[in-house]
Amino acid sequence: MPPELFDFFEQVDLPTPTLADDEVQRLFSETFGVDIDVKSLGSQQDQNFRVFASGSTQPLGVLKLSNPVFSETEIDMQDRAAELVADRQSDLRIPRIVVGPSGPMSAWWETSQGRIHARVIENMSGSTLMGSGYLSPSVVSRMGELAGRMSVSLADFSHEASGRVLQWDLRHARRVIETQLPLEPDADVRALVREVTQAAFRALDPVAAALPTQAGHFDVTDDNILRPHSDALPDAVIDFGDVTVSWRVAEIAVTVSSVLHHDGATAATAIPAIRAFHELRPLDEHEISALWALVVLRGAVLVLSGRQQVRLDEENTYASVALDREMRIMTVAASVPVPVMAGQIRHALGLTSPQDEFSASAPLIELGRATALDGGTVSTLNDEGAWMREDALETAAQAALDEGADAVFLPAWRGVLTGAPLRTPSSPATIPTGVTLWLAEPTTLVAAGEAQSLRPGVLAVSVGDETLTISGLPANAQPGALPARTRLFVQLHRGETSVAPERVTAELADGWRSVLGDPGPLLGLSAPQAPDAIANTRDETLRRREAVLAEVQEHYYAKPPQIERGWREFLIDVDGRVYLDMVNNVASVGHAHPRIAEAAYRQLRLLNTNSRFHYQAITEYAERIAATLPDELDTVFFVNSGSEAADLAIRLAQASTGRNDMIAMREAYHGWTFASDAVSTSIADNPVALETRPEWVHTVAAANSYRGSHRGADASRYAPEAVAVMDELAAAGKPPAGVICESYFGNAGGVALPQGYLQQIYAGIRRHGGLAIADEVQVGFGRLGEWFWGFQQQEAVPDIVAVAKSIGAGQPIGAVITRREIADRYRTQGYFFSSTGGSPVSSAIGLAVLDIIRDEDLQENARVVGAHLKGRLEALAAEHSIIGAVHGSGLYLGLEFVRDRETLEPATAETAAICDRLREMGVIMQPTGDHQNVFKIKPPLCVSRESVDFFADAVAHVLATGW
Ligand SMILES: Cc1ncc(COP(=O)(O)O)c(C=O)c1O
Repeated sequence: MPPELFDFFEQVDLPTPTLADDEVQRLFSETFGVDIDVKSLGSQQDQNFRVFASGSTQPLGVLKLSNPVFSETEIDMQDRAAELVADRQSDLRIPRIVVGPSGPMSAWWETSQGRIHARVIENMSGSTLMGSGYLSPSVVSRMGELAGRMSVSLADFSHEASGRVLQWDLRHARRVIETQLPLEPDADVRALVREVTQAAFRALDPVAAALPTQAGHFDVTDDNILRPHSDALPDAVIDFGDVTVSWRVAEIAVTVSSVLHHDGATAATAIPAIRAFHELRPLDEHEISALWALVVLRGAVLVLSGRQQVRLDEENTYASVALDREMRIMTVAASVPVPVMAGQIRHALGLTSPQDEFSASAPLIELGRATALDGGTVSTLNDEGAWMREDALETAAQAALDEGADAVFLPAWRGVLTGAPLRTPSSPATIPTGVTLWLAEPTTLVAAGEAQSLRPGVLAVSVGDETLTISGLPANAQPGALPARTRLFVQLHRGETSVAPERVTAELADGWRSVLGDPGPLLGLSAPQAPDAIANTRDETLRRREAVLAEVQEHYYAKPPQIERGWREFLIDVDGRVYLDMVNNVASVGHAHPRIAEAAYRQLRLLNTNSRFHYQAITEYAERIAATLPDELDTVFFVNSGSEAADLAIRLAQASTGRNDMIAMREAYHGWTFASDAVSTSIADNPVALETRPEWVHTVAAANSYRGSHRGADASRYAPEAVAVMDELAAAGKPPAGVICESYFGNAGGVALPQGYLQQIYAGIRRHGGLAIADEVQVGFGRLGEWFWGFQQQEAVPDIVAVAKSIGAGQPIGAVITRREIADRYRTQGYFFSSTGGSPVSSAIGLAVLDIIRDEDLQENARVVGAHLKGRLEALAAEHSIIGAVHGSGLYLGLEFVRDRETLEPATAETAAICDRLREMGVIMQPTGDHQNVFKIKPPLCVSRESVDFFADAVAHVLATGW
């Protein structure tokens, strides 16, 4: 006789058992022979406890009191499925039944609430992904992998109870919704659920019969997987309570739905999970068509069931807390039409989508001379920040009409960069789903007879199986009559004409393209070959980059955005997405500064040659740099980079003193050339740096008062210790040629040197006839706000200054400035010639940089905006213990992340993950330091207060919602 199995539809009410603790303790002791302490856990339909042998703090396991509606054979099925997965996935943690003094702890109890099944399963350590904190793409991907591994392990599992009818089985979604919808008292909720589920069934019904079925876990959700600690990937799957046979694809649909309520999640967030599932358990074409419909239906079932459960059992706080999350799951899932997501999934899985198979027919409009506008990232229309003006495109379109064009259009599917900086944490929509069109004269559609008004202001014309829609018309327009000078928007829909936004995000553009075509040909508009042939080729371009460039010539981010434009403190990728650049001290005066462009352009048209010629710019530039320095630093060398500048500074010290040995502070970076590399010991740049120094390099401790060997007030010991090294060398007959040190500790994340440090080590080296070199490559030129040069902060004057990076605003310029007599001694080494060092173009740009810093008061901006930002970051540090310290001055700040404020264990992985999430939110930030646990905050000096607030808000959001 077949067992009596659970059928949800005969048993709509599922009141959970609610046994009192003392009853549970008594029955436990009687059946399993162990006295226990209990701690109640939440559950939607069972009663769960964590149980401890009396007096022990180690949990014995999790006691599950099954809802009395489930039969013994169903409980057996759950346990067997868990056993099977545990056997087959030995690297995953899967809870088995705990074996007690009298065998496996699984028994029926006669309780005050009737006969209830009790069993103890292993307690899994770690935490679930519960709550709605952020889930990174790697965690989401891992969730899909776990779902895939359940599906693979249970593919051949069969059990007599597998015919049970659960409300969570998505095969029954229609019945569950039809049963529960009338019980829902809120009319708005009813209407919303009806609308989203009808759309889902329209996509599901045609393929439902073809969907393969098998046994599965069907509940691999955020609260049923565990990670050992908060930064690890999940490795445990619990709760086999929903094991049954259902559609195979439902396994991943359930998992994906549980991603959607998390912070910042959009429909696109689910894609890594689907990809990972597909790798283990390839989805067929029907499953791909059905998947998103099932995600929406899962959301709807959760919403209705959750609300029903709360009405039934008001005290079930577990269920009531979940209501918001469940609503979010449904609305995020339903925010993108099912066919669009199917197209997006197909694309993400590398399966071809039929996107370009739209029929081409005769044009519907006869247009004369049509001008294509390019609103893309590299378009000249967007030069000099024109994109920041909301009406930039409209103005350009009207101007083209004034110049005699019959029509002006913006092609579909090419990223558009317009409007104010897109400062929103959600991904901005930059990809137009249709053609934007302006006409010079009122025009009639050729097929005017077939045009119908779809809604006020929207016209629809059928073209074979497709429908062209034109929006932006006056409400009372004659069908087929298109007005002049008005912005019209034209889309081409395949099949059903649903509402589609005018712009979509780049991450879902492929999905939208599978349901919307390019109406250009139907309008007789052929978009010229994209002038920005770079658009939409970022993956291919990255592959080519990696194939042709040396691997050690690294790029930021594993999957970098393709950045093709900058403006002030903003960077813009090929899709038109705007990022806030908080890391770029090379673009010191702001990206694409018109005065830099003008200076370069003018000089390039006049003369650019090597610096052995006599021309005005090099003289003027050298004078201007020298004028920023103390009087005695009066002689300038020009090179092309910071490495060359540091290298030359070392060679000057050696030539001038006739000695070889150099003292260098540890954990610093001075460049990659032979001599600058020799004095560089940052292990982030070179893990074996310390062991491989040439014998002429002598290092002294990194004078880091936060995490170095001497901290706080003790940091005053660094300088005497460094001087002692000099003294020892001198005593050993090898007095050093010089000491090289950054004037403000850049590599550590902008840590100020202990007060008096430079004065003491400069005095120490000079006492032995050596020279003091200040590496100002990072910190010089106004960045510190208060001081133009870093050594001014220390009230010390070096003998040689090496500077680069920001002085060229991206142009390769390096300079070494020293005293005349030191420069003269270089002759003893022979020869100095750097072809393009101080070239006419470099000098012209260098002069423009100095002018801009002065005219735009950028040093003052660094002081004021930097102080504001530092204050914001300090306020965050007061709230979040992961921030160990806020370092720096002006616009050279460091935010140091630690796991423990006492041990200062660096939060390296966390820092990387926070940077990745910030990038998703539109902020470019990178870690620095030997432990890569410090944000290097060094934006262009023109950064606004509004922008640094945006940055601080973004950091605050990530710290509050996770990474
Ligand atoms: C302090 C310091 N010195 C020198 C250099 C080398 O400069 P460049 O990369 O221009 O060769 C760097 C580069 O990051 C630096 O940070």
